[in-house]
Amino acid sequence: MSESLVLVSDADGIRRLTVHRPDKLNALNAATLDALQAAFTAAGEDPAVRVVVLTGAGPKAFVAGADIAEMADLRATEGRDFSLRGQRLMRTIETLPKPVIAMVNGFALGGGLELAMACHLRIAADTAKLGQPEINLGLIPGFGGSQRLLRLAGRAATLELCLLGAPITAERALQLGVVNRVVPAAELEDETRKVAAQLAASAPLALRATLDVVNVGGECGIEEGLQYETAQFGLMFSTDDMREGTRAFTERRKPAFTGR
Ligand code: COA
Repeated sequence: MSESLVLVSDADGIRRLTVHRPDKLNALNAATLDALQAAFTAAGEDPAVRVVVLTGAGPKAFVAGADIAEMADLRATEGRDFSLRGQRLMRTIETLPKPVIAMVNGFALGGGLELAMACHLRIAADTAKLGQPEINLGLIPGFGGSQRLLRLAGRAATLELCLLGAPITAERALQLGVVNRVVPAAELEDETRKVAAQLAASAPLALRATLDVVNVGGECGIEEGLQYETAQFGLMFSTDDMREGTRAFTERRKPAFTGR
């Protein structure tokens, strides 16, 4: 069952994960969170996977939120556990040792925006709508949205989205720094494929170190962050990829990175 909730396909080092509950606009129930947890863990561990693209099934939604029907009857401790389940998944994605692109093909609301924000890059269709509408249900974001939106877009945007609960357009999300790129819906696949292909051909250890220094640096003081950057920078000199990258530059050819 969990297989069909997340579709998995591979091409040229790019793993594509598709949240697959189109009749419920890909809402995240507990089983879907578990299926995503398993899929991301597997993608993180598979050396053949260089980059992950996450999207939603069907023409309307990336993910329209946590499953409201499933949440409706939860008690306090169950609500807390549901939040922890979601937060664990988001943290797994955020700390994956390879880049994850959210291809936002439609509604990214509540848990859907939280899921997109846990990814490293967000490319949105111009038709997408994004928001944290939990307030309209008497709730607040529970999968890390209040914290990641604050770090991505600041206090004013976070309070606007979370207090008012109204969805925003992809264009406004771009202005706020919530997404990286907005493209016409018909070009979303192509644009995402291009970015994913570039990352798949890039140096895996340097990509990993980049993700690491940004993750760590976002949560510590400047001195600690700089020291960590220096340590990771130094480590790169022990890699074949660094020799290959610098040599290819001087030899005026394209580098062939191996991840060693
Ligand atoms: N949880 C559970 N089911 C959801 C859902 C969610 N977050 N979002 C959509 N669905 C279901 C609907 O209940 C409906 O199921 P049904 O056909 O069995 O009744 C199906 O998905 C299609 O949704 P529908 O509301 O009919 O589509 P729409 O195009 O009219 O509206 C939205 C789209 C996104 C505006 C609307 O579905 C919505 O507001 N969803 C909830 C968004 C939200 O509050 N998310 C945060 C949750 S914490």
